[in-house]
Amino acid sequence: MTTTTKTTKGKASAPASKTARKTARAASKPSDAIKLLKDDHKEVKDFFKKYETLEDDAEKQALADKICLALIVHAQIEEEIYYPATREAIDDDDLLDEAEVEHASAKQLIAEIQAMKAGDRLFDAKVTVLGEYINHHVEEEEGEMFPESKDSDLDLQKLGEQLAARKAELMAQASK
Ligand SMILES: [Fe+2]
Ligand SMILES: [Fe+2]
Repeated sequence: MTTTTKTTKGKASAPASKTARKTARAASKPSDAIKLLKDDHKEVKDFFKKYETLEDDAEKQALADKICLALIVHAQIEEEIYYPATREAIDDDDLLDEAEVEHASAKQLIAEIQAMKAGDRLFDAKVTVLGEYINHHVEEEEGEMFPESKDSDLDLQKLGEQLAARKAELMAQASK
């Protein structure tokens, strides 16, 4: 048996400024699953918008690489963590099945893009179609799946932590 010394945590530390408290809270509280996934969606949507404005093949290539990596990692964390938990928590297998099929098609298109280089015939078209495809998929996730998981008893905070950890791991692997 171990003896522990009881310590009373002082609640009377100096009152922090409102901004400092806010910053501390933001740093200590990772975003929940929905927030994390929505931020990913927003990021990639901006990438696609930016792509449309590019003229230079080297810039197009760099951005297409970024888009493909972001989508591969995003799809993987959804498939490994968010989808199984959601399938368990909400009673809507059709919705989850369709999302999985959409991921598979998107990955097919991503693989085709990765096998090409900017400047190739149909490269731009494939990136554009991928963007449209992802828009549609994101609308379904944000419009149907996310609200349903918010209404369920999923622990979105814990799920968010798992998603963030896995995402960091996959991004680190990719940058090796
Ligand atoms: Fe998805
Ligand atoms: Fe998503």
